[in-house]
Amino acid sequence: MKIFQIRKLVIISITGLGLMIMVTIIGCKASQQVSNKSGAQLWAENCQRCHNTPSPATFSPEQWETVGLHMQSRALITDEERTKIVDFLKQ
Ligand code: HEC
Repeated sequence: MKIFQIRKLVIISITGLGLMIMVTIIGCKASQQVSNKSGAQLWAENCQRCHNTPSPATFSPEQWETVGLHMQSRALITDEERTKIVDFLKQ
């Protein structure tokens, strides 16, 4: 392999690595945006995809805790998002 080809390979590898790091950083920023959202916002965005959002008064705080765990697996939300939503619903 000629030295020129090796150099080209190194440049391509570094560019690829840089892109991967960029994507990772952008990915983290996106999830930070999610964590800036309030419980009410997350509830409105996540809980009416499949059914009408039940009003906070529908269930007791203990019941919301259980509902939250059950619906977390349906809505595919993070623990943090679930905690925020459940805290909002308990109010
Ligand atoms: C992927 C679809 C989906 C999403 C998203 C979802 N749910 Fe549900 N939910 C269901 C299904 C299906 C049921 C019926 C019970 C069951 O089989 O799990 C249900 C039932 C419920 C019930 C019981 C209703 C009743 O009157 O007995 C509550 C309360 C509820 N969901 C709250 C929520 C909350 C709060 C969120 C947001 C975190 C949410 N759901 C997000 C699918 C979803």
